[in-house]
Amino acid sequence: MPDIESLLKETRVFKPAPEFARSAYWNRKRVEEMRRLGERNPERFWARMAKEHVSWFTPWHTILKWKPPFAKWFVGGKTNVSYNCLDRHLTGEHAWRRNKAAIVWEGEPGDSRVLTYADLHREVSKFANVLKKLGIRKGDRVAIYMPMVPELAIAMLACTRIGAPHSIVFAGFSAESLRDRINDAGARAVITADGGFRRGGVIKLKQAVDEAVENAPSVEHVVVVRRTENPVDMRPGRDHWWHTLMAEASSQCPPARLDAEHPLFILYTSGTTGKPKGILHTTGGYLTHVTATAKAIFDLREDDTYWCTADIGWVTGHSYIVYGILANGVTTLMYEGAPNHPGLDRFWEIIEKYRVTVFYTAPTAIRTFIRWGEEHPKKHDLSSLRLLGTVGEPINPEAWMWYHRVIGGKRCPIVDTWWQTETGGILITPLPGGVPTKPGSATKAFPGIDAEVYDEDGKPVKPPNGGFLVLRKPWPGMLRGIWGDPKRFREQYWSKYKNTYFTGDGAHRDRDGYFWVMGRVDDVMNVSGHRIGTMEVESALVSHAQVAEAAVVGRPDEITGTAIVAFVTPKGDAEVDDSLRDALRKHVTREIGAIARPAEIRFTDALPKTRSGKIMRRLLRDIASGKESVGDTTTLEDYSVIARLRESEES
Ligand code: WTA
Repeated sequence: MPDIESLLKETRVFKPAPEFARSAYWNRKRVEEMRRLGERNPERFWARMAKEHVSWFTPWHTILKWKPPFAKWFVGGKTNVSYNCLDRHLTGEHAWRRNKAAIVWEGEPGDSRVLTYADLHREVSKFANVLKKLGIRKGDRVAIYMPMVPELAIAMLACTRIGAPHSIVFAGFSAESLRDRINDAGARAVITADGGFRRGGVIKLKQAVDEAVENAPSVEHVVVVRRTENPVDMRPGRDHWWHTLMAEASSQCPPARLDAEHPLFILYTSGTTGKPKGILHTTGGYLTHVTATAKAIFDLREDDTYWCTADIGWVTGHSYIVYGILANGVTTLMYEGAPNHPGLDRFWEIIEKYRVTVFYTAPTAIRTFIRWGEEHPKKHDLSSLRLLGTVGEPINPEAWMWYHRVIGGKRCPIVDTWWQTETGGILITPLPGGVPTKPGSATKAFPGIDAEVYDEDGKPVKPPNGGFLVLRKPWPGMLRGIWGDPKRFREQYWSKYKNTYFTGDGAHRDRDGYFWVMGRVDDVMNVSGHRIGTMEVESALVSHAQVAEAAVVGRPDEITGTAIVAFVTPKGDAEVDDSLRDALRKHVTREIGAIARPAEIRFTDALPKTRSGKIMRRLLRDIASGKESVGDTTTLEDYSVIARLRESEES
């Protein structure tokens, strides 16, 4: 199989601003020192992180036990995640954090709440006692299906306090998906709410839970937070109001002393098959990884107001709204609702209102903001921002530049962070005080991480050729398995290369050793024997002045093997006709080369996305190849988009 050809040409480089670099927690010197240590002795590097960033009840005796593909980190060590996120900020050197905001919460209707570290500690302790009273013991699984309200974070932390692994199911998933996940994990309790607000409407969560639990025999209890006050059915014996249970709960609940490898949570993610995989994470290694990376990559300071716009139902929210941020004693902002409610400027209004300093969001959101127009951010004072981040997919250089200019006011470094549900925390990323950035590149591996790009035979490819992104050494936040399915764990991640983790992503490195992640390898096309990253074509399309968003898929073609089909959302004012098609083909040819020219361009007013904002490529591939059966659509945000896409065929 030929190498994935790297066709992206991006030559802009942004050095860390001297003022930022000087005061950064990891300045250039520290970055270099850590890189050296990480290369020489990754275990020692991680042990140093574990000592610096995590409080242990009992120290570990062995840093790593590695029997591929099974890793154990900090063996013999005992700790507790909620202790690290809460208790340690109330005593000793940081005791003053007691009255510091832990969670600043903004509801979609405009209501708001602030929980100090002392408040959060009390609520978590009480809810941990509630769980115990319901009979939940160490090791029992608890499913959580909630809107973005503080009780979600409280429930998670309470689970960690008693050692009951949580399984959070994103509230946008259907009852059916929820039931599958509850059953797979064998959850004994479900924590939910009457509803959640979304674009002014109410999502009826309790109703979905009722449906799901109908065929989920493991569930004994359902706890319901009152949020939207819509009527719900409460089944006596099984269903309990959160506020009723909390009113009677004691606020004394010592944290369980848990083994470093005690299961912390399961989080389901899509794989190449229809059945989601329950990714398992454990305690000490995960906590070390997310706490150290959050501190270094977001350059977290005592006076930061940090905002990650993800939903806690995804791994980004687990690691970088809750655990990694609270463990650092920093204020984390949580927003309940949609970015366009009531207006297209809601995010910028929130940044101005709370003086947000660090902002972490997804490229797909940025492209949406571009489409909405820069007048919306321009209405607000964004001068409090000092650092920006992106996650979830490759960012096209033009979106990066817009983010840099319009949101960052050209002064904020941007950290493009590459990682996965499976990796637990960030692995490839700039360090804002010490690593020059290039728009579209996640730059280099975090110290202690051994990332490489392999060819089909497991040999590192020569820059700038493309290949498969792999991780050659274990890291503390890595998944410990797929819940209940060790066979799939081996096959999925460890069978392509010996003792090496296969990410499923394609990437290439440039001559400076920078990584350019091109997206999932199943999204890479082979056109006339040339492999082309769909992302590269998309990036080219999006760099055209009249394009807001684009998604590119391959469709089988008799002559070329694969033909490129581009789904393009033009900007509001664009003339949509054949001359635009022509212009776009020319543009792609100019940006990349004739082999990347789309065979077909379909204009559409929207792309099919999951509620977390990922473009559903499999669906697009089906539509592009004229298949009637359109695969799993349970996570699709807007169903009507499918019909419109089918009609969009180029005449
Ligand atoms: C993609 C999200 C390019 C990648 C944390 C990965 C990225 C998948 C980036 C994991 C990035 C994530 N640049 N691609 N900065 N971050 N990805 O499990 O394809 O929802 O394999 O985890 O998102 O998605 P997941």
